[in-house]
Amino acid sequence: MENRRRRFKIIFVWILGAATLFFMYINIDWDDSMSRETEVQWEDPGPYHVAYPRNYKFIMDDTPTCKSTTPFLVLMVPVAPHNVEARDIIRKTWGSEKLVLGKLVETVFVLGLPGGAHADKLQVKLEVENLEYHDMIQANFQDSYRNLTIKTMMMLEWLAANCGKVSYATKVDDDIFLHVQNLVKLLLKPGTPKQNFSTGSVLWHSPTMRDTNNKFYMPRDVFSKPEYPPYAEGLAYVMSMDLPAKILTVAPQIKPIFIEDAYLGMCLKRLSISPTDHPEKTMFLVYPPHPLSSWQLSKLIATTTSSMKDITLYWQMTRKPSVK
Ligand SMILES: *[C@@H]1O[C@H](CO)[C@@H](O)[C@H](O)[C@H]1NC(C)=O
Ligand SMILES: *[C@@H]1O[C@H](CO)[C@@H](O)[C@H](O)[C@H]1NC(C)=O
Repeated sequence: MENRRRRFKIIFVWILGAATLFFMYINIDWDDSMSRETEVQWEDPGPYHVAYPRNYKFIMDDTPTCKSTTPFLVLMVPVAPHNVEARDIIRKTWGSEKLVLGKLVETVFVLGLPGGAHADKLQVKLEVENLEYHDMIQANFQDSYRNLTIKTMMMLEWLAANCGKVSYATKVDDDIFLHVQNLVKLLLKPGTPKQNFSTGSVLWHSPTMRDTNNKFYMPRDVFSKPEYPPYAEGLAYVMSMDLPAKILTVAPQIKPIFIEDAYLGMCLKRLSISPTDHPEKTMFLVYPPHPLSSWQLSKLIATTTSSMKDITLYWQMTRKPSVK
């Protein structure tokens, strides 16, 4: 009896040893010769989740914002490389407002790498454009709609690395009219939290789309729950400056999906931080009928637009001294 047990023990130890050697061998093999294949897998994890974290780097990053200035609020605008029209309109309208209610506000455009046949030419144009304005940061991932989550996370990395003394950041899409003064007014209110604060148009019960024809289709094996955790919709969301670093600490534990705003909701949930509803329904308008009235404009912080012309028009309307 005793003998048999010992024999089993010896066999077990042998098997364990052989298994360990086997797995070591497999590992060595991966490190040496298969690393290129695993790399490729990492680069393109599929259409529904994206490659982040990854060793992306900023290849354009000479804006003085946060480095030689300390704004109260930074406006971060993800924009496609080719969309110089949007950048120029924003620079001439709400992006030009630097001193608002006595507070410094600065705008930074966030880009990835241009793609397609003329990528090199476009890259040169971007560098020339940045020489003139110094308001663009660019990281070395492929810029595309499906990679917006990578863009958002790179934006957070940049904020966490550079903007520690800034109070708030707001991510604003490039087709949005932003009422900067109303935003600053909200942030200056005594009741507005200085930490763990995220607001915008909050979706408290956003369903996961299971219809394969839907733009936001999400397979169950990537995200299994019937609804996303609460999150502020992507058109414009505000966060206190402690959040970028906090979100980045949990992000490696949460598989990134291509829906950037919902992904931030997933990260916030992991942090047990809930977004906050903005105080008035009139502040964030998602697909309202246009044109908006002066009265509507006077109440809002951000609205989607029907065309880029709306941005210029609304900006002019809100700058007119109010007629009583
Ligand atoms: C997203 O970016 C990564 C890194 O640049 C790239 O490998 C991948 O092809 C991009 N995906 C899309 C859909 O553009
Ligand atoms: C912010 O949230 C974290 C949880 O992620 C919590 O530990 C911390 O106490 C909160 N801070 C404030 C000021 O509410």
